Amino acid sequence: MSSFTRLESMEGFYYTLHPKPTVVLITLCPNGRFNAMPASWNMPVSEEPPTVAVAVSRETYTFECLEHHPEATINVPHSGLADVVYSLGSTSGRDVDKIKKFNLKLESSEIVKPPRWSDAIASLEGRVHAKLDVGEVRLYVFEILAVHVKRDLYTRWGWDFTKTNILLHGAGRTFYHVGRMIRAQKLA
Ligand SMILES: Cc1cc2nc3c(=O)[nH]c(=O)nc-3n(C[C@H](O)[C@H](O)[C@H](O)COP(=O)(O)O)c2cc1C
Repeated sequence: MSSFTRLESMEGFYYTLHPKPTVVLITLCPNGRFNAMPASWNMPVSEEPPTVAVAVSRETYTFECLEHHPEATINVPHSGLADVVYSLGSTSGRDVDKIKKFNLKLESSEIVKPPRWSDAIASLEGRVHAKLDVGEVRLYVFEILAVHVKRDLYTRWGWDFTKTNILLHGAGRTFYHVGRMIRAQKLA
């Protein structure tokens, strides 16, 4: 007798792996504008070269933008930005200028054309290094060319959670932030 229950459907299977840190991709689009899209299906891939993979649905305008110009900034929002992040993720840049509509403050990147989001706590400059189509998604692996952080919030080991927090996406409108720190003991 197992203590597990097999899910009857695969719908939402991925919630077993949530909440996930959310980033906002800023891209340069065929309409000449910049666009911003949240993506919680993202992960570091390799240290050398530094790479980050992001799963982008081929239905998004961001997909068209990345095919038009294969660079993005990968911006890390703090948890206070949940409303704007959710709004960016429930509107398409195909229909509306989201940068204007949601009043996103941008500043130039150093290497790539897409700018960074001034309110983010980190912005990684990425250029497409590899792509893989899986189902409805194109998985983009970005080589990270430069990383910018809000210096007072970042330590050698990552974010100082006494000063800031990141946005973990649960489901739909639900987000979490990072809670209590746990220090593991090595079992003998
Ligand atoms: C918190 C959050 C995380 C999301 N993560 C992803 C993701 O990882 N990949 C994806 O393709 N869409 C994701 N979405 C949905 C897109 O952000 C959404 O389809 C967006 O409107 C696309 O914008 P665009 O058409 O301007 O590119 C997410 C939405 C939210 C709110």
